[in-house]
Amino acid sequence: MKDKVRKTPDTLRSSRWFAPDDLRSFGHRSRLMQLGYSEEDFMGRPVIGILNTWSELNSCHGHFPERVKDVKRGVAQAGGFAVEMPSLSVDESFTKPTSMLYRNMLAMEVEEMIRSHPLDGVVLMGGCDKTTPGLVMGALSAGVPMIFLPAGPMLRGNYAGKILGSGSDAWKYWDERRAGNVTDAEWVGLQGGIARSAGVCMTMGTASTMTAIAEAMGLSFAGASSIPAVDSGHVRMSASCGRRIVEMVWEDLTPDKIVTEEAIRNAAIVAMATGCSTNAVVHLVAMARRAGVDLTLDHLDELGRTTPLIANVRPSGKDYLMEDFYYAGGLAALMKQIESRLDVSCMTVTGRTLGENLQGAQVYNEDVIRPLSNPVYHEGSLAVLRGNLCPDGAVIKPAACDPKFHLHEGPAIVFDSYPEMKKAIDDENLDVTPDHVLVLRNAGPQGGPGFPEWGMLPIPKALIKQGHRDMLRISDARMSGTSYGACVLHVAPESYIGGPLALLKTGDRVRLDLPNRRLDMLVPEEELAQRRSAWTAPAPHYDRGYGYLFSRHVTQADKGCDFDFLERQFGGATAEPSI
Ligand code: FES
Ligand code: MG
Repeated sequence: MKDKVRKTPDTLRSSRWFAPDDLRSFGHRSRLMQLGYSEEDFMGRPVIGILNTWSELNSCHGHFPERVKDVKRGVAQAGGFAVEMPSLSVDESFTKPTSMLYRNMLAMEVEEMIRSHPLDGVVLMGGCDKTTPGLVMGALSAGVPMIFLPAGPMLRGNYAGKILGSGSDAWKYWDERRAGNVTDAEWVGLQGGIARSAGVCMTMGTASTMTAIAEAMGLSFAGASSIPAVDSGHVRMSASCGRRIVEMVWEDLTPDKIVTEEAIRNAAIVAMATGCSTNAVVHLVAMARRAGVDLTLDHLDELGRTTPLIANVRPSGKDYLMEDFYYAGGLAALMKQIESRLDVSCMTVTGRTLGENLQGAQVYNEDVIRPLSNPVYHEGSLAVLRGNLCPDGAVIKPAACDPKFHLHEGPAIVFDSYPEMKKAIDDENLDVTPDHVLVLRNAGPQGGPGFPEWGMLPIPKALIKQGHRDMLRISDARMSGTSYGACVLHVAPESYIGGPLALLKTGDRVRLDLPNRRLDMLVPEEELAQRRSAWTAPAPHYDRGYGYLFSRHVTQADKGCDFDFLERQFGGATAEPSI
């Protein structure tokens, strides 16, 4: 490491707080002594903030209080000084109206917490969906060396001899219950078996997609994101994060040297090859814009067309879960498999290039991590649509829907709100055929509010009873990364701000042409112009508070839903604290 050292104790960022012989620094030093530390604990040592998104209502991060101790052990071994900084937990399971409302709040908190405190480097502890992009976005803007510690997936679900996948099997068995095929006792058994340990959802949902993306960007150790949360390897990886971040501070290995345009492209390719969650689109774009890289939906569509899906992990893959993926070699093996498509010269947190990190990685089960010659799906995970319903784009996951819907035309049934939709869906006399197109609007970033995961609209009870399990659905909402089906999502601009989806009426014909990436309503332009002039904006959701800030500054889905004023290109650089 010696030849890489660029920082000295007196050029550490934290030395501004602790080194001067003045009254302010006297205060800083005396307050660390109040905490029981001596000068030799902290003077001239890299101060490492452990940003921990733990709470007792974040079931995915239940192991983090233990892991913090392991990170601290590593930091101390390497000669640093570690402080835990609790950060907004943004749990996926309980947050209403949706955790997405608070991703940017976490990002703001992280950025400001780093900037305002004597931190030389940070370990970001996250994994449950929004915590990964929230932590990374904030830390990218703050700019100090960072390493991402992924929570890791929970163990496979299990009930009555059946393997259960997070989310996916909840939806599946809920449909069976609505069809009268699951008893009360079985339902309670499923409830107890589907989430068996600490860790994030163990399908390739948003959580594992986002931790894979962070790793592919170079922000975690190779293979780290695949280690199950309760595996002892996860403990060892945590201690390594502690040791390594101290070295990164001395090396001044800041995130701008890691998260480059090429690294973001690598991350997008890896996401496509894993069968990623549709949410990856929004978060990738937002993280890229924080790094000053203009990643667009068109770039992602192109990568989607050319990257085969090789991770046979549900919901896009058929058979396996994250635990199997780990035993098959994990993300490092997957990246090795597609190495020729990646820019392996990208720098990573290890201080070595991506290519160097992947040396020795190999696939142990070719049914789980497929060779390029035998992919799960010949194209990548996502496709971007455009048309008169979504001029700024919409997203669909072709591999996760019945191929018969790839080219489909049918009459729309339009709902203006979730309660209205839910009531109709449960009505056994609803006038609906499998050819109908269900549409939910006012569910976007502003309309939701907060861009909820309502996009996998339930199949109407009337059709469930006839044995149907998929149909074309369209919304300006997101959907959970563990969802599946013919769901067009993220329609932009959203209906709440007057996007064309607001003009659609029940009975209008809608056409999806996936091969040509089109989504249109077959309504004459003159008719649409009339409807447009008659349209009135809905009442605002918020008169005060964080929601008020959110609704005034959140960008649309195709721009990543960050706050406009937090993007790299907004205004000038933010100064360090001046006194
Ligand atoms: Fe936390 Fe799925 S609920 S990752
Ligand atoms: Mg989720």
